Amino acid sequence: MPAQPPWLDLCAADALDPAAPLRVEQAGTAYAVFLLDGAVHVTQDGCTHGPGSLAEGYVDGQEIECPFHQGRFHIPTGRPTAPPCTIPLRTWPARVIAGRVCIDPAASTPPAGAA
Ligand code: FES
Repeated sequence: MPAQPPWLDLCAADALDPAAPLRVEQAGTAYAVFLLDGAVHVTQDGCTHGPGSLAEGYVDGQEIECPFHQGRFHIPTGRPTAPPCTIPLRTWPARVIAGRVCIDPAASTPPAGAA
């Protein structure tokens, strides 16, 4: 695995199912890992509206529907697309390295600690 940036290994790429996001906990953070049209995307797992786990949600095109109140987000950007969700998800650029889904944990959008 390349030395820079300090990649965080989340899961095996072949564990991903386009119809079902994968919840992964690493270093105290819960991530939802998606496979859309052959591309890997990583968001926070917790819905910004409440206690819903997005990895338990319903994938519809490029959107994830939260199982709790059916709010929606655009997976690649984390942008909310349907109420009651109004706060974007954190997302991380992801890449597959040697068959493993990896992110740079310091490169989230929005950055850690942002409102
Ligand atoms: S907890 Fe996700 S829409 Fe309310």
